[in-house]
Amino acid sequence: MSGESIRPSVKAYCLKVPKQLGEKAIKLSTKLDILNGELEILRDGDYIFVPLKKSPIEEQLDEMKKEVAQFEISTCDFYRREKPIRSIVDFLSDKLPPHLLASVPRSIDFIGDIAIVEVPPELETHKRLIGEAILHVFRRVRSVLAKSSAISGVYRLREYEVIAGSDKTETVHKEYGCKYHLDPRKVYFSPRLSYERYRVASQVSEGETVIDMFAGVGPFSILIAKVRRNVLVYAVDINPNAIEYLTKNVYVNNVYGRVIPILGDTRDIIRSRLRGVADRVIMNLPERAIEYIDAACLAIKPSGGVIHYYEFSESPYVTEDAKERISEAIKGAGRRMEAILSERSVKEVAPFKWQIAVDIKIQ
Ligand SMILES: C[S@@+](CC[C@H](N)C(=O)[O-])C[C@H]1O[C@@H](n2cnc3c(N)ncnc32)[C@H](O)[C@@H]1O
Repeated sequence: MSGESIRPSVKAYCLKVPKQLGEKAIKLSTKLDILNGELEILRDGDYIFVPLKKSPIEEQLDEMKKEVAQFEISTCDFYRREKPIRSIVDFLSDKLPPHLLASVPRSIDFIGDIAIVEVPPELETHKRLIGEAILHVFRRVRSVLAKSSAISGVYRLREYEVIAGSDKTETVHKEYGCKYHLDPRKVYFSPRLSYERYRVASQVSEGETVIDMFAGVGPFSILIAKVRRNVLVYAVDINPNAIEYLTKNVYVNNVYGRVIPILGDTRDIIRSRLRGVADRVIMNLPERAIEYIDAACLAIKPSGGVIHYYEFSESPYVTEDAKERISEAIKGAGRRMEAILSERSVKEVAPFKWQIAVDIKIQ
């Protein structure tokens, strides 16, 4: 057989047939259960060499004689079939020892064509290999980022390190038919909130005025304006980069005039321009939302409305303590919590730490 290769080969029984009988020979050896599927079929000149698990017995040979006009049984050297790489663990299986393979991150966030992972300390020296594995398995990914800090600061950002692919971290993320231009290094964005955004948007009625107090690049605001034609959404954020992307996203999603991007501190904006205008307020700043309940209450129409409130909790449900605290804060702002419309755990953000959502009817 021609062709040189450094791939190791193994000797096995083979069924040699002229190439025009190849398909028949493969089908027959499959039917007789003697085809060796772990080895590659060889083609050489006018012949095909089908790898067999064992030498055919008398009856099998008789059947071959009936079905295939011309054949020969011998032994040859075959290459092993390469296993398809379907996961990052498959890709890394011959590159990392088993104890490290067990730590390979299973959870990957995809924002547009960017993949984001948390590399555990024991894999720190292998992080570029992990990045390569992700690029190899997820073909549409262009950059792989490793989280290198916790989320912090007023803008709720974290630091990332590019561990594979392009250094350009601006991307376009698609969610529920909307497109969001963003750079995760400059603005907050979590693909894990997609269902929560859909859940909130589907509660909005035609004719409502909504204030998205901590809007980011606009995933709540824009989805609302996409699913309801006759709404007005004020989308406020203090991060100039978020407002820049939000303004672009308003145009690319055709919601211009119905989503109004506003740069500034949400309390100042509500006090100066948005008192008593809202049927609904979204407070997606879980670590500090309680401090802004007064502003949310000021924004709600005198006739009442709904607040979508978020906070972090050490339990995956809304505790009585939390409800009491929220109710007191609303009372302190001169309004009353008429009812809790719904409560749910949105996502686990760390071990024993959850983001929870409470929909509150304000009188
Ligand atoms: C957790 S992010 C939520 C972003 C967006 N709602 C989303 O789902 O992607 C909170 C946002 O609030 C903004 N922010 C923080 N404090 C603010 C304030 N006082 N006024 C307006 N925006 C604020 C941050 O810049 C950040 O974009």
